[in-house]
Amino acid sequence: MNIIKNTFMPIETWFPLAIYYEDLPDAPTHQQALLAAVLQLERDGAERRNYPEMAWTGDLHGVEQIHTNPAFAWVVEQVERHTAIYLLELGVDLSKVDLYLQRAWPIVSRTEQEIGSHSHNTAHISAVYYIKVPAEGTYDPGRLVFFDDARVNEVSPGLGSENTDIIEPDNYLNQLQTAYLPVEGRLLMFPAKQRHAVTMNETEELRVSLSFDIVLTATATAAGAYEFLTPPPTQWQRFK
Ligand SMILES: [Fe+2]
Repeated sequence: MNIIKNTFMPIETWFPLAIYYEDLPDAPTHQQALLAAVLQLERDGAERRNYPEMAWTGDLHGVEQIHTNPAFAWVVEQVERHTAIYLLELGVDLSKVDLYLQRAWPIVSRTEQEIGSHSHNTAHISAVYYIKVPAEGTYDPGRLVFFDDARVNEVSPGLGSENTDIIEPDNYLNQLQTAYLPVEGRLLMFPAKQRHAVTMNETEELRVSLSFDIVLTATATAAGAYEFLTPPPTQWQRFK
């Protein structure tokens, strides 16, 4: 068939993935103190237990509660504020949910280090804050890549996979991934279940970020919602 694409074809797109970000205006004021705190935690953390080509991640090294550490109070406050803004935009009634910072940890990525594909399965919202990013230049500082596992427009399952060349990889209605360059002082949030990875830091500089996992529960007065949102932990009883 010889069909010429019509540039003005009326196609509408629905069901978008919502990635939120904000460049925090006070970031430069806090950068040095946050950087020093992270590097100190890395030095004090457990012995390295991942492969050298993987970035150092606090959660694998006993450093996963920085939300309780006063050195991170400013950024925690920002995470709380922007999570609320993000959820409001997603249509969530904040009077019916309680929000918790479940865990938070630093990430230090050195030359040729990356983070493999994963999702944050025990959380609902994930946030990343970039403390230090390699200067813009010829080499890639490593990008946050989101993968589309829903593939709503993949008309035959697997058609667009890496094993075929039937769909052009950069087709805007069937792209399998999207990538975000890190930006110093930027806070970025996404649904925690969204599979993601961080590509290799090809520069000679450090890339330092913080990761936050946020959990929603229903409030004590939202009893009808408990089938769909975890009841408040204050109502739980631990086995004796
Ligand atoms: Fe992650």
